Amino acid sequence: MITRRNFLTSTLKGAVLSSTVPVLAPLWTETPDMMKEIQNKKHYRLPYHSGLGGVAIGNGFKPTSDEDAHEALEAAWAEGVRYFDTSPWYGLGLSERRFGHFLKNQKREDYILSTKVGRLLKATSKPPKALWQNPSPFQHEYDYTAAGVRRSVEDSLQRLGVNSIDMVFIHDLSPDNGDLKERWTEQFEIAVKGAMPELTKMREEGIIKGWGLGVNTLEPILKSLEVADPDIFLSATQYSLMDHQDALDRLFPACAKKDVSLVIGAPLNAGFLAGVDRYNYSGKMPEGYKEKRDKMRTIAQNHGTDLRTLALHFSAAPSVVAAIIPGARTAQQASENAISMKAKVPAEVWKELKAEKLISEQAPTPKSA
Ligand SMILES: NC(=O)c1ccc[n+]([C@@H]2O[C@H](COP(=O)([O-])OP(=O)(O)OC[C@H]3O[C@@H](n4cnc5c(N)ncnc54)[C@H](OP(=O)(O)O)[C@@H]3O)[C@@H](O)[C@H]2O)c1
Repeated sequence: MITRRNFLTSTLKGAVLSSTVPVLAPLWTETPDMMKEIQNKKHYRLPYHSGLGGVAIGNGFKPTSDEDAHEALEAAWAEGVRYFDTSPWYGLGLSERRFGHFLKNQKREDYILSTKVGRLLKATSKPPKALWQNPSPFQHEYDYTAAGVRRSVEDSLQRLGVNSIDMVFIHDLSPDNGDLKERWTEQFEIAVKGAMPELTKMREEGIIKGWGLGVNTLEPILKSLEVADPDIFLSATQYSLMDHQDALDRLFPACAKKDVSLVIGAPLNAGFLAGVDRYNYSGKMPEGYKEKRDKMRTIAQNHGTDLRTLALHFSAAPSVVAAIIPGARTAQQASENAISMKAKVPAEVWKELKAEKLISEQAPTPKSA
């Protein structure tokens, strides 16, 4: 009899094991010494320094047309982007379906794909009010159990139309999740017994390459490092030009100690550092942030670069960071972000930002400038 468990094991194992690490050059070339160090590590580490995030492609903040979403993906691909991050939550399945529509024309071994687990989707005529404008007609139910995780991966495979997912992030198990708030710790305990060991098992079975949490706060990441064996985290909103001290103090040392790397989500603070008047996801603009942004923008321009490029390079610089995943709604945004990652940023910019106390003295800055 085919059960969910043996379906995933039999169909995916061969597919994942036979896939090879993509041969395209990463957008940000590592030195041979760095690559040797990375290959010696126990936990999976992405071979790319930059990818594309799927919030806007799932109608995050405002509606995105099917055409714009497809063109954004095409433009990212044309610029060499080969890492894509999405989630069942983004547009209640819409983002995964749009990624799948594009990726069906690509060879599976040519790109890396991550999605999330923790919310199962059920059909409804009234999707919940959230970040999504005109989402798919589904509602979500939290499920951080072992069976929930298997089911979620299977559902994602079907929406994406692919036979494997490389990395799985346990999504929004965090105090900033408005559905959970302080009850996140109860759900965390469910995940400690369910989702976390199950994802470790799926990694051992060869179904996925690695797993971690995908969250907007530090506590769940620090806690999971103590109780489980994750490979890579998606840390969103916690390491950007605007806000990074806590991550430098607490997140980076804890991850480095356990040989775990990071994907940085919202490197533009949900658009703020690309010029949008929106800061992250709460709808609130912290005091003084626009003024700080103006100062940094002027410094960037004085050095012949732009703030968005600075922001992307800044978030990608630390060695514990495997990749950044700026989101894009259009082809133009996707191309600009990928081109930014290939640009050189003069070292003097970082010195000036530090001298002006606009970024932390401790923040690693790109060595290739
Ligand atoms: N908990 C989690 O796991 C978590 C949380 C957050 C994010 N993430 C991941 O991280 C990814 C990145 O976060 P994000 O997409 O929310 O925010 P972001 O990357 O910080 O900013 C993306 C937004 O910035 C604007 N933008 C991007 N490129 C631009 C350009 N070249 N010119 C002008 N504007 C530009 C667009 O705003 P407009 O929409 O106004 O066009 C876009 O939607 C997500 O897509 C997702 O994959 C994960």
